[in-house]
Amino acid sequence: MTAQSVTGIEACVFDAYGTLFDVSSVAHGARDALGGQWQALSDLWRTKQLQYTWLRGLAGHHADFWQVTGDALDFAMTTLNIADADLRDRLMHLYLGLSAYPEVPETLRRLKAGGMKLAILSNGTPTMLESAVRNAGLDNLFDAVLSVEEVGVYKPHPSVYRLASDRLRISPEKICFLSSNSWDAFSAKAFGFRVLL
Ligand code: LAC
Repeated sequence: MTAQSVTGIEACVFDAYGTLFDVSSVAHGARDALGGQWQALSDLWRTKQLQYTWLRGLAGHHADFWQVTGDALDFAMTTLNIADADLRDRLMHLYLGLSAYPEVPETLRRLKAGGMKLAILSNGTPTMLESAVRNAGLDNLFDAVLSVEEVGVYKPHPSVYRLASDRLRISPEKICFLSSNSWDAFSAKAFGFRVLL
């Protein structure tokens, strides 16, 4: 491991799901109903959710992330033979209030105190992102919470990354993009951001 400093950065732009927010916390929150299947459901749900975004992007058939998340949950529940409409509603509701990773609030506060502009750039709809930010107590930390709904196509389309640079009025090489999703990080780097994975 080598330590490298990232200098000349004016803004940190974060992916949301899987980076700031723990997507597995959703199914974990319903483990009383899901039992030992909660992890399998969580993994299938997330995998299919991303696949649907990529397919919709390639096909040019956009539907928002709430729709895609529900469609992916239907796939995961059907695959695991879970037929329970109330549980489906409960899981979708939990998705609106999923947990941030424990280190997130303090990390964001320190970056902001250091004068860094902070933003989210996510596939999530504005409503989903607003809800997640509020539930995690991260209100007032971000200069911008940006949804792909503004451009009508999912990551990794370059127009998504351009949205962050345009809205923050900061050139890509002065933006540090942080994502736990490797395909997202690589695409952000290809666009011109500095990237931390
Ligand atoms: C997002 C997905 C990729 O928040 O995690 O955009």
